[in-house]
Amino acid sequence: MTSARLPIDIAKLAAARRALDYVETGMKVGFGSGSTANWMIKCLAERVQNHNLQITAVATSMRSAQLAQELGINLVSLNDAKWLDVTIDGADEFDAELNLIKGGGGAHLREKIVAAASDRMIVIADAGKRVGTLGAFPLPVEVIPFGWQATKTLIEDALVGQDVLGQTVALRMAAEVPFVTDEGNYVLDLQLNRIGNARQLSFVLNQVPGVIENGFFVDVCDLAVVGYGDGRVEVADATGNVTQVAGYDFAPVENMFLEDVQ
Ligand code: 5RP
Repeated sequence: MTSARLPIDIAKLAAARRALDYVETGMKVGFGSGSTANWMIKCLAERVQNHNLQITAVATSMRSAQLAQELGINLVSLNDAKWLDVTIDGADEFDAELNLIKGGGGAHLREKIVAAASDRMIVIADAGKRVGTLGAFPLPVEVIPFGWQATKTLIEDALVGQDVLGQTVALRMAAEVPFVTDEGNYVLDLQLNRIGNARQLSFVLNQVPGVIENGFFVDVCDLAVVGYGDGRVEVADATGNVTQVAGYDFAPVENMFLEDVQ
């Protein structure tokens, strides 16, 4: 399937491609999940195939693993890799301190494990993911299916008194049935609208019996490589420093980037 590139695709691709500046031959690289991470995997595969880049990769989801395998990337388990040089992943929201909300694709549990086992985590995102305050995007919380309704009630109770502006908790569905993660769990999406203290809320949520992991990434991300619809790219660090870096002129667009990879 082919399609014309929309500005948001250009932005994701620009960020994904520029993030490869942080990948060197011999590195062990964590592959995130989602549409932006897919662009990164494709760009990296092109360098492996055509530019003799040698890497070992660990995937954060079955879908990313499948894409990497199809593209001939050397994939190992996190247990085999033991530790990674860098993980590159997308995000649903990030703030100026590089606190993230992740898990829009339901992969945040493995994503957090892989990122935490990396010297460096780099987020790649279109500029629309940058927010002043986290919370417009529903916070995903992975829960075990056993007694999930009791877990939901306990989460609702735990939200009372927290610095948030909404408290709606919904089971994520895939058509008519609950969405199931790669680890066989369910996801509850918390519509909180504005989250005043992500660190505290992350701690509170993870105390609830049945909760496996929430979608906050606090003190995990080192850099955000942010793409714009015109191909511009900037790099932000966790202290709020933002640097413009060379972007890309995507006209003419290369054939490999005309394929949909989502
Ligand atoms: C999956 C994630 C993704 O990184 C996040 O949802 C961003 O996805 P996309 O790059 O498609 O916008 O956290 O669990």
